Amino acid sequence: MSQLFTSLSVRDITFRNRLWVAPMCMYSAENGIVNDWHHVHLAQFASGGAGLVVAEATAVVPEGRISPQDAGIWNDEQVAAWKPVVQSIRDRGSVAGVQLAHAGRKASTHAPQAESSGTVPASEGGWTAEAPSAIAYEGFAAPAAMTRERIAEIVEAFRVAARRALEAGFQVLEVHAAHGYLLHEFLSPLSNERTDEYGGSLENRARLTLDVVRAVRDEVGTGVPVFVRFSATDSAPGGLEVDDVAQAAAWAAGAGADLFDISSSGLVAHQQIDVHPGYQVPFAARVREVTGSLTAAVGIITTGRQAEDILEDGSADVIFAAREWLRDPHFGLRAAAELGEDPHTTWPSQYVRAHRAPALARV
Ligand SMILES: Cc1cc2nc3c(=O)[nH]c(=O)nc-3n(C[C@H](O)[C@H](O)[C@H](O)COP(=O)(O)O)c2cc1C
Repeated sequence: MSQLFTSLSVRDITFRNRLWVAPMCMYSAENGIVNDWHHVHLAQFASGGAGLVVAEATAVVPEGRISPQDAGIWNDEQVAAWKPVVQSIRDRGSVAGVQLAHAGRKASTHAPQAESSGTVPASEGGWTAEAPSAIAYEGFAAPAAMTRERIAEIVEAFRVAARRALEAGFQVLEVHAAHGYLLHEFLSPLSNERTDEYGGSLENRARLTLDVVRAVRDEVGTGVPVFVRFSATDSAPGGLEVDDVAQAAAWAAGAGADLFDISSSGLVAHQQIDVHPGYQVPFAARVREVTGSLTAAVGIITTGRQAEDILEDGSADVIFAAREWLRDPHFGLRAAAELGEDPHTTWPSQYVRAHRAPALARV
């Protein structure tokens, strides 16, 4: 039996395998409310064999949306819309997770599929972004520096969002501290020039992430897995390096986080990244080594064999993939077949007749 298709238990939740769907923004919600697009999009990955499906970056406050079309979880109407989506994921044997997010200085931007790019002006439904310091992401409008009162409100917003996420039926919560969004902006010296207890030393810059993890853990109790997605490096001079992030992750483990989902970059436009298959795996391996915590690898992992090799060499405990699931929503079934797994335990029973191509001749 492969490691990829070996189940994993974290707190009260058991995942049927270790090939998971990473969060992917669809920029298709209205007023933060998800709809039929999100329902079909996410449920298909559960039919396609994912052990966990993490719903897209979902804003904990309206100002925390990347674009006006982002999903949200700051009111009851949004929770009601999430419920059937979450139920469909669970009914198909996957665990349902959600990424709780605040976009910081990268909020209020046009969705990638929009005709325009950059900051959405107030006249078109945009708003002033908020960040640790009033330093703009290159090409975007300058954000407002957050007061300490506002920081406390955001910690509380993550706590309430965690409560709402459980009401919606989500079983796993991932705190988004990567890709140049709010928590990452606090963590990095390139975007945080504060002189209070949230700026300066690594410990101070990590404080908001740790406050959020503690609030979420406190809210959800001991049974619910809490993950954190980090960018392991800023890929820019003077920015975060993997050992800084591994240290922050170790502190986050102490604050109640169970697993680290290790991505990279996204903080500055002048980043330099050498992108190739599995390019972020060494970062996951380093965070796993330093923290001793469960760690996920992500980034151009596209076959069952590649995923299995990453687990077998001890670089990570689980695999997240994003774009491969978009190309092939049955990536999980394909990977199981590739690794010689029994279709009767890894495929939906309704699909087993399609497992071996020669069987088609007998239809
Ligand atoms: C359409 C799309 C939307 C994404 N949205 C998010 C998101 O909401 N949150 C996040 O942390 N990463 C997001 N990402 C990044 C992915 O989760 C993943 O880390 C990245 O695509 C690398 O993995 P891959 O090579 O398997 O696609 C998105 C990626 C894509 C392609």
